[in-house]
Amino acid sequence: MTKPSLQLLLPAAKAIETELIALRRQLHQNPELSLEEAETSASAARLLTKLELEVKRNIGGHGIVADLAGGRPGPLIALRADMDALPIQEESNLPFASAIPGKMHACGHDAHTAILYGAAKLLSERKDMLAGSVRFIFQPAEEINAGAQAMIEEGVLVGVDEIYGLHNLPTLPVGKAATRHGALMGSVDRFEIIITGKGGHGAIPDQCVDPIVAASAVMLSLQTAVSREISPFEPVVVTVGSFHGGASYNVIPERAELTGTVRTFSRSVQDAMPSKLQRLISRTAEAHRCQAELRYTKMVPVLVNHDEQVRLVEEAIDLIQGAENRSEAAPVLAGEDFSNYLKHVPGCFFWLGSGPAMCADQANGLYHPQFLLNEECLPIGAALLAGIVLLRLGYANA
Ligand code: NI
Repeated sequence: MTKPSLQLLLPAAKAIETELIALRRQLHQNPELSLEEAETSASAARLLTKLELEVKRNIGGHGIVADLAGGRPGPLIALRADMDALPIQEESNLPFASAIPGKMHACGHDAHTAILYGAAKLLSERKDMLAGSVRFIFQPAEEINAGAQAMIEEGVLVGVDEIYGLHNLPTLPVGKAATRHGALMGSVDRFEIIITGKGGHGAIPDQCVDPIVAASAVMLSLQTAVSREISPFEPVVVTVGSFHGGASYNVIPERAELTGTVRTFSRSVQDAMPSKLQRLISRTAEAHRCQAELRYTKMVPVLVNHDEQVRLVEEAIDLIQGAENRSEAAPVLAGEDFSNYLKHVPGCFFWLGSGPAMCADQANGLYHPQFLLNEECLPIGAALLAGIVLLRLGYANA
């Protein structure tokens, strides 16, 4: 089976660029937060239905699953985009800036939705060339790390052989893409610690049990979980992000509360952290006569790409954008719930350049209130996702 030429995909994607930009801007102006993506989902579903795909709504919340059957039987390849916005007040001054106060597409999920629609359009026009099927997954609630898991629990991966997804990256110039074998993004865990003592007058600490002193000691002891208990060759972060206790200058409170996050690239390190934290927290609190409770939630696993699927993405990038525009991505400890899919099926998640063409240093990063996305990345992203599928399922004699 000879592989099909991908040369025509980018011109075909550029021919629908106006439509992709219009969709992206419409979504940008009307951002919806995680679990609220009703209108975004309805817009995408209307367009997908016109492509004569088999569209299922309300999967794992406002998620959409749209299936495209190829001309011959074969594997089922999934492509995924996320759809939700962030609770950020937009300061971009764009003519199509968010019309909803306090909500903004500052992570470019509006673009991801438009890109996946573009890929669906390109592939539905070429379905007779496919020996297999494509599943387009429009996922809600990525920003709260809930959507992928919810969709998986509703069976979105049943029958899926491989999965691919991308994220725009404004610090990478448009026209470029970056891949990485193995771990690309970190795990995300959240913890809450409640230290209980005995409240009373600040002038008589001997008749109280001070939870603030105990919580301070706990916070410092947590730093040794990384520095003294984990190999320096394993990247891991333990950050305490909030520390609350008491309400008055002269009162010893009954309790103090800490919240924080653990990030790592290693599944074994991730698995080992709750018991390490539990030991440090409970024994340190005990040394200060306090009780400690740890609530530890594993939110997102490490995002680990699969080698064969990374190679396929790299081949698509080289054929569509040119090998000179492909680079190796640096690992980051930020999380992405695409990692949940990769626990079940092989696949690859990669970065799509969405920054200024010449000077990416001037880009405002993801989550910035002045985040700008270079819309030239829309047809490129659509061509890449379609190209991955064509490389995997296409046959030349169609
Ligand atoms: Ni994002």
